[in-house]
Amino acid sequence: MNDVNDILTTNNKITILAIESSCDDTSAAVCVDGVIRSNIIATQKVHAKYGGVVPELASRAHIQNIVPAVHEALEAAQTTLQELDAIAFTQSPGLIGSLLVGVQFAKSTALALNKPLIAVHHMQAHVLANLIDAENRPSFPFLCLTVSGGHTQIVLAKSPLELEVIGETIDDAAGEAFDKCAKLLGLPYPGGPLVDKYAKEGNPLAFKFAEPQMPDLQFSFSGLKTSVLYFLQKQDAGFIEQNLPDLCASIQHTIINILLKKLNKAVLQTGVKRVCIAGGVSANSGLRNGLQEIGRKYGWQTYIPAFQYCTDNAAMIAITAFYKYQAGLFAGLDASPSARAEW
Ligand code: KG4
Ligand code: ZN
Repeated sequence: MNDVNDILTTNNKITILAIESSCDDTSAAVCVDGVIRSNIIATQKVHAKYGGVVPELASRAHIQNIVPAVHEALEAAQTTLQELDAIAFTQSPGLIGSLLVGVQFAKSTALALNKPLIAVHHMQAHVLANLIDAENRPSFPFLCLTVSGGHTQIVLAKSPLELEVIGETIDDAAGEAFDKCAKLLGLPYPGGPLVDKYAKEGNPLAFKFAEPQMPDLQFSFSGLKTSVLYFLQKQDAGFIEQNLPDLCASIQHTIINILLKKLNKAVLQTGVKRVCIAGGVSANSGLRNGLQEIGRKYGWQTYIPAFQYCTDNAAMIAITAFYKYQAGLFAGLDASPSARAEW
């Protein structure tokens, strides 16, 4: 491939194709000048019966899904490969085999078309999903609580490309806590959305589970799972079936409490009152309502991405790539996926 300056297009509109394949969703999106034109997500159903994502099956499903997803994304955006100005991909973190499918697809497409490549950090992209809606986006600086299946972070965003992780979990992620507790209740993977669904019918104060006392802006969720396990072991047969909504509501209430208490601490520490949420768990209705409530109480401006931009999606990769394009941050053909990249 030529030097990137030789292949940068000179038209005014910047059209980017983005690929996301870090875990078990194959997604392709097109963005034109920071406006999302399409966002196709092929969710892999194959993992449900195993109670979690099976990495080898995920990679295989990505191989099957990626070409149709890209075609659909280009068609929905009414654009062609030739009109693209850059190809973006998720570089890290994620399952290495899953990432590899997206990275190789992006690199070979960029090489064939002689277009520049942009490597994107998945967690940065979750935060910047909050910039997709031009009508309702936070100005800088803002705080973002990023809660997914693999991460729980509080991020201070000073600009699109200046993000600082100021709080993190020391063990399980919030999404993992939802999924593991759901598994204890006999619910299939991913359990988070099901806990959310049953919680709507239940009493959040019916049962009390352990809330860890962690210093600073650290989170810990492994104790919650153990506390739910020990509680359930003491109950009679049929208890879960008879109390499912109350159990889900109480578990969800505990997780949200832990998250919002730390978020409040982060606001007090930084003095930043523009607060966003991001990542798969930000699709949780209790967390969405809870954020708005606490925001009203303490005078915060709160932002929540549309549902399709909460769980893994390529639109968030595309918007991040748009900012990286403008800053001239391109990747070379030697870019490789990384399971646990630094921020
Ligand atoms: O961001 P994401 O799609 O993938 C990762 O990067 O991990 O997050 C997936 C996580 C899973 O743990 C899933 O159970 C959780 O997000 N999740 C939810 C909800 N929707 C997805 N958790 C609670 N309530 C939901 N409505
Ligand atoms: Zn994610």
